[in-house]
Amino acid sequence: MVILKTTGLTRQFGGLTALSDVSIEVNEREIVGVIGPNGAGKSTFTNVIAGVYLPTAGKIEFCGRDITMAAAHEKCHAGISRTFQLMRPLAGLNLIENVMLGAMFGRNFSLAESRQKSMELCTFLNIGNVERPISSMTALEIKKMEIARALATEPKLLFLDEVMAGLNKDETLEMMDTVRKIHSQGMTIVIIEHVMRVIRELTHRVVVLEWGKVLCEGLYDHVSSDQRVITAYLGEEAEC
Ligand SMILES: Nc1ncnc2c1ncn2[C@@H]1O[C@H](COP(=O)(O)OP(=O)(O)O)[C@@H](O)[C@H]1O
Ligand SMILES: [Mg+2]
Repeated sequence: MVILKTTGLTRQFGGLTALSDVSIEVNEREIVGVIGPNGAGKSTFTNVIAGVYLPTAGKIEFCGRDITMAAAHEKCHAGISRTFQLMRPLAGLNLIENVMLGAMFGRNFSLAESRQKSMELCTFLNIGNVERPISSMTALEIKKMEIARALATEPKLLFLDEVMAGLNKDETLEMMDTVRKIHSQGMTIVIIEHVMRVIRELTHRVVVLEWGKVLCEGLYDHVSSDQRVITAYLGEEAEC
């Protein structure tokens, strides 16, 4: 079953078309990879779906509902959640309080319910010592906290925007296991990633963006052997 469908999705910033006529579908329980060079529109795609920006043109359907012009909090309540490419912890709050924000604002849970839910998520994602300040956490832990915060909104669809960026090889492998674990609970995931090993091993299908447009899409083996993708992107990327 299709959970997310975009039709002709377009977003301009002044004279720049960051996303241009993007029509894709994501099926329930799928892990879809989004790759492409820097500036290709990957984060803009996430931002438009999640409601940070409204599209200039096109349509977004989620679970059969037209949510094109819904605000970010409405899209969150509908079941779309995401992490940010540039980590966004609230430094004045500790680990568990950051996670609780997702449950409180995403689901209107009470303080006690939010704490309970957040504790469960931290255990699930293997992040201990939950009263720690953010300043004492590693990049991997902060990224996991951001995933926990996104999951605390109880999404049906999770966008992960470059969660492996800045992680070393062991941390990347741990994060890959984390993504597998979340998927095994039934989650549908869109993962934006530069590390090709992550795309190859985790995704069911890959969409390649270039200059805001879909350059190619399909199975990893199909897109990774497409000459246009090699020229536009893969030629310059290192393997993990
Ligand atoms: N808020 C914004 N205002 C103006 N230009 C933006 C904004 N967000 C993104 N862009 C531009 O849109 C293009 C796509 O950016 P982005 O979606 O971040 O690419 P990617 O995530 O693939 O690296 C880039 O040229 C970027 O500079
Ligand atoms: Mg980006």
